[in-house]
Amino acid sequence: MEIVVLPTAEDIARAAADRIENLVKSRPDAVLGLATGSSPLPLYKELGRRHAEEGLSFAQARAFLLDEYVGLAPDHPEAYRNVIRREFVSLVDINEDSVKSPSGTADDITAACAEYEKAMQAAGGVDIQILGIGTDGHIAFNEPASALTSRTRITTLTEQTREDNARFFDSIDDVPMHVVTQGLGTIMESKEIVLIATGANKAEAVAQLVEGPVSAFWPATVLQNHQHITVFADEAAGADLKLLSYYDHMYRNRPEA
Ligand code: F6R
Repeated sequence: MEIVVLPTAEDIARAAADRIENLVKSRPDAVLGLATGSSPLPLYKELGRRHAEEGLSFAQARAFLLDEYVGLAPDHPEAYRNVIRREFVSLVDINEDSVKSPSGTADDITAACAEYEKAMQAAGGVDIQILGIGTDGHIAFNEPASALTSRTRITTLTEQTREDNARFFDSIDDVPMHVVTQGLGTIMESKEIVLIATGANKAEAVAQLVEGPVSAFWPATVLQNHQHITVFADEAAGADLKLLSYYDHMYRNRPEA
């Protein structure tokens, strides 16, 4: 794992955007893995700026979303497909038909999940997966006790996550109980992962992710087994890391720096 602790969310956005820019410049039809939630918003804004001011193009890129609420009406503003349309697709030139998301409204959700996995494989897999992390250590919506090999499926949110996400709804009662999410095994197949964590409420999850034992109790710890992952944290989110100064030393003296 490469651990990069930077002062602000904007610093993280620029560093993460460099990764995406390098990829789409070398491979214009790259497959992006998109997360929703607040953590990637500065990154999407920065990519939008690079598109508008520097001509960075996503015209041939393809994308898959990580997850979706079950049961929200297709036009609900918090349905993740609509969040991504608003926060990313509308800022760049990606073709909306090339952006796929799991269905939270299919009659047969299990069959739709299997189709989603097939579509990801047919696209050649995700080249770069953007991730946030939940305060309980979830990635996508793989909550504690998710199988480390899990695939795309319907599952149940913890009360903690529903409380955390209530800020996007009128009340916690409006936060769906169920979601469709890529599994931990699915996410582990992406070729590169960029995880973004900002704010003090992520400090415990980040410390577990980087320094804890691999355990379904903190699902993000499965990422310790990934070959090519960078964890970007701001100072508040990185505050509980025991080896912080060592990670900083490694980053500043990395061979390519
Ligand atoms: C959203 C997702 C979630 C969020 C996590 C953190 O697509 O997959 O795992 O990344 O809940 O959410 P924020 O960034 O809002 O703190």
